[in-house]
Amino acid sequence: MGIAIAFLFLARVARAQSQVSKVRATEDGLALTPPMGWYPWNEFGQAPQNEKLIKEIVDALISSGLKDAGYVYVGPDEGICFSRDVDGKLTTNLARYPSGLRSLGDYIHQRGLKYALYTDAGTRTCSMAMPGTKDHEFEDMAAFAAWRADYIKIDWCNTKGQDVAQSYTRLRDAQQAAGRPIVFSLCSWGEGEPWKWAASVGHLWRTTGDICIPGKANWSAAMKNAAANEKLYAAAGPGHWNDPDMLITGMGGLSETQNRSFFSLWCMMAAPLMAGNDLRKMTASTIQILTNQEAIAINQDPLGIQGHIVRREGQAEIWAGKRLFDDSQAVLVFNSGTAPAEVRVTWPESGSAESDALYVRDLWTHRTTGPIRGGITVTVPPSDVALLRISKSSAFPAPPIIVADSYWLSFRVPGPGPQELTGAITVKTTGSDELPLWKVRPGLPPWLSVAVTKHGKSQTLANTVSTAGLAKGLYHAVVRADNSEPVSGQPMSALYYDVELEVAGGERN
Ligand code: GLA
Repeated sequence: MGIAIAFLFLARVARAQSQVSKVRATEDGLALTPPMGWYPWNEFGQAPQNEKLIKEIVDALISSGLKDAGYVYVGPDEGICFSRDVDGKLTTNLARYPSGLRSLGDYIHQRGLKYALYTDAGTRTCSMAMPGTKDHEFEDMAAFAAWRADYIKIDWCNTKGQDVAQSYTRLRDAQQAAGRPIVFSLCSWGEGEPWKWAASVGHLWRTTGDICIPGKANWSAAMKNAAANEKLYAAAGPGHWNDPDMLITGMGGLSETQNRSFFSLWCMMAAPLMAGNDLRKMTASTIQILTNQEAIAINQDPLGIQGHIVRREGQAEIWAGKRLFDDSQAVLVFNSGTAPAEVRVTWPESGSAESDALYVRDLWTHRTTGPIRGGITVTVPPSDVALLRISKSSAFPAPPIIVADSYWLSFRVPGPGPQELTGAITVKTTGSDELPLWKVRPGLPPWLSVAVTKHGKSQTLANTVSTAGLAKGLYHAVVRADNSEPVSGQPMSALYYDVELEVAGGERN
């Protein structure tokens, strides 16, 4: 009897969790493809992080082409270095962020990027430099919302006696109470097995320990992370991702081959692509790897399937099981050995029928061969990869990657009285197809209206604010617009942006 009741209870919990997870992904529309961006920890560690560094990185993110390739979330990691006031409120460290954390967010939003911040679920952060959120969950999440964060990584240091699922669930509740949609990144390094429950709590969860100590890329640690993360492939999907840690591509100590292989593995695992290198000092090869749109298309595929190892042959791993939105299949052959590997990949193990005549696209040489039957033989140098896309058609369409020119519109009028002002957000897709018209969610405040127009792959969301009847003060709205991927019909990450209006007092003008 006791067992039957327990079983029923577990079944109910499991059902409730899967319902919650579905609701969450479609409700908030965030991270429906793996988040892409940059965090400072892998290269810099805590001490050198400050406003100047983050702003320089933001500028480099744009000038290097990474923004246009889809890397949008950017901000300080543990070097955010806020402290807690006597009244319990978080305060910016003005020595390191002289303009304040809200202003840093505005700098990032004005450039069409999203603001990523960091905290910890325990009493202090890992380096003990900052307070954690324990017992301050609601006020801290309100502070992150007030700073206009779009993404928050929550570490798991100094959490003695805390339950992982309960702690992160409380933080999720606090974040929802704060009323701002935020990508929620759990960082318990696999503790508490978040892949079993966190789809209803966050959008991504670390599955492993740190990939390196700051400034020292470590190939074998990275391979260990990949091996652990690979096994969890069934847990990943749109809005809920396994996270084997940030990228080490482009850090010192890795060969070009290792950089390419590492990036291919992370793309194949549908892992978040948070670059961790110094974007101000990238070689042409690093830029070329990090912005390879054909590899990124595998990672950002709207079906959100995580590939896995289907066979090992000597030192070579054959990764497959990653069907893409156009019914093509991604396949990776990774040679972890020290001698070249010759490997035949058959159509059935790649996910196709033996008799199919298929085209094979090499995503690093950008060459297509075919149609061919039965399978393909590749020769892969040591530590290198063959990253392939296999399809009945030679078209290989790209899924949409959205680039926005601004995520923040700010209006100021000199005083009360009827006035009308407009400002625009432009959104373009780097995908092969034009997107349907973005649909703005109803529920905007009466002072704001948004009209959407389309010009091929670009769309303009024209925002009009009308101040008639508004008293002096500050007004704020978060606009949400939705779209769906045109070939697969899958929903795409929702577009959120802030509109702010200041109706100033007469005396200031
Ligand atoms: C942990 C995380 C790292 C980094 C540091 C900061 O180790 O796993 O990614 O955020 O904390 O101290």
